[in-house]
Amino acid sequence: MATSKPSYTVPGLSLEDGAKVAAILQERLNSLNDLALTLKHVHWNVVGPHFIAVHEMIDPQVDAVRLMVDAIAERIATLGVSPQGTPDAIVAGRTWKDYSLGRASSIAHLGALDEVYQGVISDHRKAAKDTEDLDDVTNDLLVGHLHDLELFHWFVRAHLENAGGELSTSGEDTETAAAEAAEALAVTEP
Ligand SMILES: [Fe+2]
Repeated sequence: MATSKPSYTVPGLSLEDGAKVAAILQERLNSLNDLALTLKHVHWNVVGPHFIAVHEMIDPQVDAVRLMVDAIAERIATLGVSPQGTPDAIVAGRTWKDYSLGRASSIAHLGALDEVYQGVISDHRKAAKDTEDLDDVTNDLLVGHLHDLELFHWFVRAHLENAGGELSTSGEDTETAAAEAAEALAVTEP
């Protein structure tokens, strides 16, 4: 965790606040590193009639998330703290479970991804809020990421939405339950 006090940080920020912001960013680094890996896992494991649409939709999201990861890690370094980018750091620092699905239909993965994005975006919004009074530059970085993350979440949800605007995953709070709900609706749709 990036909690150690740096020996320098950006001008205008106390060392304590630099350390606080870096610790918030380290959690976002873990989260988005995990998201980039999870999205690739989905890209490789999706099967079924809509394979190519979902397979190809995922890669630009991976590219964008990897750019976010790089920007977060470099902001941590700019704040005078060492960013932790190893697999062990992700696993040790994460507060969520590994992605639940292996080989599965496109609609099941999209249902599960709805849950994934819900978690990532909620935590990213909280981090943006927590940096609002601490560091405008970090706050701006995180808000910038949210523009894309929330757009990608909509790309996923648009597959799960009916003409009445209702999501098949509504009310579900685990990846497997959301995947099952998404598949059930896909089966019953005319
Ligand atoms: Fe590929």
